[in-house]
Amino acid sequence: MTVKDLFLNTPISKTIKVQGWVKTFRANRFISLNDGSTFQSIQCVVDFENTDNEILNNINSGASIEISGTLVESQGKGQKIEIKVKKIQILGKCDPEDYPIQPKKHSLEFLRENAHLRVRTNTFSSIFRIRSSISYAIHKYFKESGFVYVNTPIITGSDAEGAGEMFKVTTLEINNAELDNSNKIDYSKDFFGKETNLTVSGQLEAESMAMGLGNVYTFGPTFRAENSNTSRHLAEFWMVEPEMAFCDLDDNMNLAEDFIKKVLKYVIIDCNEDLIFLNERLINEDKTKPLKDRNELNLIERLNFVVNNDFVRINYTEAFDILRKSKPNKKKKFKYPINEWGVDLQSEHERFLVEKHFKKPVIIYDYPAKIKAFYMRMNEDGKTVRAMDILFPGIGEIVGGSQREERLDVLKERISELNIDEKELWWYLDLRKYGSVKHSGFGLGLERLILFATGMSNIRDVVPFPRTPKNAEF
Ligand code: 4AD
Ligand code: MG
Repeated sequence: MTVKDLFLNTPISKTIKVQGWVKTFRANRFISLNDGSTFQSIQCVVDFENTDNEILNNINSGASIEISGTLVESQGKGQKIEIKVKKIQILGKCDPEDYPIQPKKHSLEFLRENAHLRVRTNTFSSIFRIRSSISYAIHKYFKESGFVYVNTPIITGSDAEGAGEMFKVTTLEINNAELDNSNKIDYSKDFFGKETNLTVSGQLEAESMAMGLGNVYTFGPTFRAENSNTSRHLAEFWMVEPEMAFCDLDDNMNLAEDFIKKVLKYVIIDCNEDLIFLNERLINEDKTKPLKDRNELNLIERLNFVVNNDFVRINYTEAFDILRKSKPNKKKKFKYPINEWGVDLQSEHERFLVEKHFKKPVIIYDYPAKIKAFYMRMNEDGKTVRAMDILFPGIGEIVGGSQREERLDVLKERISELNIDEKELWWYLDLRKYGSVKHSGFGLGLERLILFATGMSNIRDVVPFPRTPKNAEF
């Protein structure tokens, strides 16, 4: 049985068998055994007088063992049930001298260096159960809303965001590649006969699928070679991207808000024990900080707050005005001052709006066309596009989306303004030629949502094996 089953079904007096890893072993008698199925560990009481010394000596933290015994109501305090052990088998020894994960508090940095073992700690096993639950809740939400799950390619020939931050995919030898007439690498000799990259977004292909299936979503790994060594950026991250035919920007914002709330609601219930633990962890961490840096709400309160309150919706121009007149801007506290309409909002501005000004998630829409991607629908004013970003406390941008430009002539004009080669996007333009309809979608960064749900502060701690600049260990 799994430990989770034991706590759920409590087969008192029954003979049972469990397998797991030793968390601690006290007084030659009490094993705390965890198998990852649930936050809780099960206490196993050893009859040490009738157990081989060879076995007793190998019940160390980190060792894997199999226990047979009887489930009984616990005699001691702190747990309802425990196992009265009949037989112990050591499955895999663990040398207590060199096991990195000692039963004590480790720094998150140390655990990152031991990412292959950190899942054995309470904090990380909770995080990864929550990650799994969020992924499930995402599929559940879209399935129940009638969306079709589509898989968009990971290797692609197009740059969806037009930002040029892509990882090249090639089988050519870097030092030995044939050159073309203009002395550039001749990609016609490459595996696909053209230049290819890892995808930065499945959006363009999702748009194609939506133009026949109606409402679709893709959910998969995405890659960005941006050299941002921040606590919010990964080079490999997961993104969920719904795309809806016949929907405008308002429908898009409504869906995004409802989606995030339902997913968090699901996780609050499904991962209750893990959240209670992470909540305590953060409360303790907060106590070590100066008063002004402490959170007003604890983790569980923050999650409930988001689930139960409307997000603020303002357009870029309103956000710009608030920021321009704000104290930190007047006192020149922003690294990037807000003076001229059209500037891109930096994370310091987003966090001011969300954490100081509104104290709520904020959706900003209708951004200047100049700072957004080519595919967003142009507004009547000719200056702004139907974009929307959702900003979260402690995180900044968690969602980026837009209504797409469905008018062939306007789209072509944008593409040429941005010096993008029309030929590269021939199939994307076809979608505007054959039965084009208004449509919208967005992308939500899975890891950023997990950051919010777990209260962790570094994105490297919510993905099992983070990929970041100068780091691809494991
Ligand atoms: O705002 P972005 O770049 O939007 C798109 O890629 C659109 N094509 C989505 C769409 O409309 N279908 O990225 C969407 C989200 C961001 O809001 C952020 O949450 C996450 O993806 N994201 C990252 N997460 C971790 N590390 C990175 N380097 C990320 N870049 C974006
Ligand atoms: Mg964005």
